[in-house]
Amino acid sequence: MAEYVELVEMGPRDGLQNEARLIPAEEKIALVDALSSVGFARIEVASFVSPKWVPQMADGAEVLAGITRKDGVSYMALTPNLKGFERAMAAKADEVAIFGSASEGFSRANINCSIAESLERFAPVVEAAQKQRVKVRGYVSCVTDCPYDGPTPPEKVAEVAKALMDMGCYEISLGDTIGKGDPGTITAMLEAVLAEVPADRLAGHYHDTGGRALDNIEASLGLGVRVFDAAVGGLGGCPYAPGAKGNVATEAVAARLAELGYATGLDLRRLEAAARMARNMR
Ligand code: HMG
Ligand code: MG
Repeated sequence: MAEYVELVEMGPRDGLQNEARLIPAEEKIALVDALSSVGFARIEVASFVSPKWVPQMADGAEVLAGITRKDGVSYMALTPNLKGFERAMAAKADEVAIFGSASEGFSRANINCSIAESLERFAPVVEAAQKQRVKVRGYVSCVTDCPYDGPTPPEKVAEVAKALMDMGCYEISLGDTIGKGDPGTITAMLEAVLAEVPADRLAGHYHDTGGRALDNIEASLGLGVRVFDAAVGGLGGCPYAPGAKGNVATEAVAARLAELGYATGLDLRRLEAAARMARNMR
């Protein structure tokens, strides 16, 4: 039997957060509902960040209230601090994610604090989540390159990933935020991280700005990573990472994985329909 690789759908959050047009909640809800039928176990649908920083995500509670929840799907939300966590719980997010960076420049630009300060802010979020038995995922951004600081030392990625795991994150998603990584830099980064965090606790989150995301996924598969983040229609980017244009497209990853002989459990016809919907939202 083909080995399973999980794709975590990022379209409604990482995909839409950077769109210039303020997308109405109904359109976001329609996209999430289309994605719910595809077969994903996890869909990131909202982020409870400052609405002044990311106006596109201000309607997260409305989106979570409006979707038709499918059994077996975890609807995830980003939570940068306790205030975000409380908003996510009020909106009934199934799980949350904290998001740090391996580079100081991006940490400042994205969440307005140093890496060390961010870890201090995340700890009470994880503590509160654990009390309520809510799972917490951790992101590390700029795992190979930073738009402000240049190349990221692999050891720094390993240090932040380990700190998030030790704090209680069940999985660490490694973000090539500006899509500048290639199989060489991704491999060097993963080798450092794998010395601290086992492969079954890692996910690859590769943006496709440089056109290498599929190759980076293949390199990561070779090192044992079996979870990848992707966004339908290749939507997305990060508002605080200039040039971070698209997440790798879920349909392209699913096709490459099928070619390589892996099973994703996704309904490819429904995935294509959701991708068409996503592309029309731009
Ligand atoms: P700050 O200004 O330093 O925070 O922002 P603060 O605590 O001083 O609060 C300032 C104001 O924001 C206050 O309101 C707070 O109440 C409010 P005021 O008194 O001025 O009216 N506030 C909030 N409001 C709603 N929800 C909250 C919240 N927190 C504070 N949770 C903060 C710090 C982290 C809040 C801000 O920098 C922020 O929101 N940043 C988010 C940036 C973001 O969302 N980036 C995109 C997601 S990350 C990403 O895409 C990368 C990823 O995909 C992986 C990869 O690709 O690498 C995950
Ligand atoms: Mg991202």
